[in-house]
Amino acid sequence: MNELRPLLASLTGEMNGWLREDDPLIGELTVPDEGDDVVLALAAQSRRAAGLVRRSDTPLSDAMSLWQASTRENLQLRCSPEATTADISNLLDSWLEHPMPEVSEPGGDRARSVRLPVPLRQAIVPLLEYGFTARTVTLARRLNTPPPVSPSPALIRPAREDDGERMRELMRELMATEVSFGSGYQRAPEVSDHHVEEALTLHDGWAVVAEIDGLVVGWASMAPPEFSGWAAPSVRPRPAAYFGNAVVDPAVRSGGIGRALASTLHNHAHSHGVDTIILDAASNNTWSVPFWHRLGYRPLWTTWRRRYPTSD
Ligand SMILES: CC(C)(COP(=O)(O)OP(=O)(O)OC[C@H]1O[C@@H](n2cnc3c(N)ncnc32)[C@H](O)[C@@H]1OP(=O)(O)O)[C@@H](O)C(=O)NCCC(=O)NCCS
Repeated sequence: MNELRPLLASLTGEMNGWLREDDPLIGELTVPDEGDDVVLALAAQSRRAAGLVRRSDTPLSDAMSLWQASTRENLQLRCSPEATTADISNLLDSWLEHPMPEVSEPGGDRARSVRLPVPLRQAIVPLLEYGFTARTVTLARRLNTPPPVSPSPALIRPAREDDGERMRELMRELMATEVSFGSGYQRAPEVSDHHVEEALTLHDGWAVVAEIDGLVVGWASMAPPEFSGWAAPSVRPRPAAYFGNAVVDPAVRSGGIGRALASTLHNHAHSHGVDTIILDAASNNTWSVPFWHRLGYRPLWTTWRRRYPTSD
């Protein structure tokens, strides 16, 4: 690893210069750090691409395991603008010739992933050829002017503690959608309740519900900038806020409620000085990506994933 550090540093610098010119909204990459979780250091023969592979494990009871395999290898890829598809294939070849580790917990799952800025198109064909699929897309939207709050067929109001039960039901419904699209993982139903508990700690209008005739039919939440630091490096502008959840009851979808929930949070974020909103959506969730596009978001990063059977 040590001997690769100068190469990783220079490729990171080249990549940042190129990305800044291509799309000033895309956040700056950092030089991959050494650490106990690094299992491989890789460089293409041409030295135009290099990366570190890190291993991580998440307990199945942890809410993060809803969105990712419980045992993972993640490649932090850096490459020069001159890197070719052959350079990327060369690197992927060295990675994939190593066996995928076994799951750390019974009932767990395994995946390899790599997250890339959208302009890095020379990586797409090699990733497809090596069995990866575009799994998640990180989208962003700036709030340059106060966004108008859309008219709503439902009452939009801050979430309260006594909305918890309906919010949990809707969250479980959202997870079922994500699992069926292959973007979420099947876990015990109560694991997704964590997202509701977290949203209910967000006071001051950062979590909102839609109500019709006294029934909660949708909810959405956004983490204020002080809790969005982990996501902020995806974009350059600050402050950035992370839009965590949005769900509408299937019985009343496509009636403007999702837009009303999102626009209320956009307006709230703008009044708190937020410059840019970031979110992750499942690439193949046909309910989700077109919706965010209509709301003014555009893709900046793609996470490519290859899922493995539980045991070979
Ligand atoms: C995504 C979701 C919250 C949208 O809520 P909704 O109330 O159905 O959305 P709206 O009716 O307000 O639609 C807003 C706009 O998006 C468009 N839109 C919504 N879903 C769409 C779809 N599947 N395909 C194309 N356009 C879509 C609408 O046409 C509308 O555009 P317009 O106002 O410019 O005419 C809802 O479909 C849902 O709960 N999906 C399942 C959970 C999920 O995937 N959540 C997102 C997690 S990232």
